[in-house]
Amino acid sequence: MAGQLFDNHGRRINYLRLAVTDRCNLRCFYCMPEEGIKYVARQELLTYEEMVRMVSVLVPLGIEKIRLTGGEPFLRRDFMDFLRSIHQIPGLKQINLTTNGTLTEQHVPELKAMGINSVNLSIDSLDRKRFHEITRRDSLPQVWSTFEALINTGIETKLNAVVMDGRNIDDILPMVELTKRYPVSVRFIEEMPFNGDVAHYEKLPWDHRRIMGHIREAYPTIEKLPDPPSSTSYNYQIPGHQGTVGVIAAYSRTFCGTCNRIRITPQGLLKTCLYDQGVLNLRNLLRAGATDEQLQDTFTSALQHRARDGWEAEGRQSRDPNARESMATIGG
Ligand code: 5AD
Ligand code: SF4
Repeated sequence: MAGQLFDNHGRRINYLRLAVTDRCNLRCFYCMPEEGIKYVARQELLTYEEMVRMVSVLVPLGIEKIRLTGGEPFLRRDFMDFLRSIHQIPGLKQINLTTNGTLTEQHVPELKAMGINSVNLSIDSLDRKRFHEITRRDSLPQVWSTFEALINTGIETKLNAVVMDGRNIDDILPMVELTKRYPVSVRFIEEMPFNGDVAHYEKLPWDHRRIMGHIREAYPTIEKLPDPPSSTSYNYQIPGHQGTVGVIAAYSRTFCGTCNRIRITPQGLLKTCLYDQGVLNLRNLLRAGATDEQLQDTFTSALQHRARDGWEAEGRQSRDPNARESMATIGG
């Protein structure tokens, strides 16, 4: 019988986001500088065996849902074998993936066969040139092909686009229009200050209100949908369209009150908030020979010091305010 895990603010924690690598083959400018980030040394990455152990220890505590992310998860060797091992852990109700779609297409039939619940595909532009400028790679045709494979296979698919002033504003409406033809959830994400470099905005030019205002102008009949519990997106639908539209206030942090998630970084740091620096080194514990019980106790107590929201977590950081993390190391 699975336990129920609560933090010090009474929020139930049932969702783990596990980043399997910090490496990526794209260079999205909001995530990494052109030359890439300083990657974690291989021996510092959790091994697949360590990840499977961690998940097996967390599931009995109350983790029901897992998202595998990166970096780009399909860049790590034998990722599909790892996915099969995760799939075999009893008690997990949902396994989701986040991928950039460049190496994913060939695996789509097997993802379907395995019963992967949903795939989030990062796609910031539908225009090949703009996609290239944003990601510094000319990969839109391949990513689009992955998108079609996912849809044709009947895997629940979400498209994530980070909204960037001067970069992809012209893509917002065409992406909304995709929901007419495809049963897809298109989500617009506020840009966060995790570009592996110094922050580049004093104030976010395109916050969730402005994004929604822009969409509403073109689609005045768009309707609000009820948001699922602990949803990070505000969800909408245009009457008659198959798909839905979501806006994620990742910078404005309006959803912290119902946050149900924790993160484990590729090097095994536990993050209880996207905006914290890591509150516990799980890798050292694992490698020091901790028992399942010790891991569970340490883990449960880490949740008793959780920041109330992303503002508090950010305020607690001790690092140089000019040093900026990359989303690839945090785990999207
Ligand atoms: N701001 C917002 N979203 C980001 N992502 C990566 N970096 C940022 C950022 N600075 C998103 C990607 C992808 C997911 C893994 O995280 O677009 O959808
Ligand atoms: Fe890679 Fe995702 Fe970062 Fe883009 S946002 S560089 S796809 S990890």
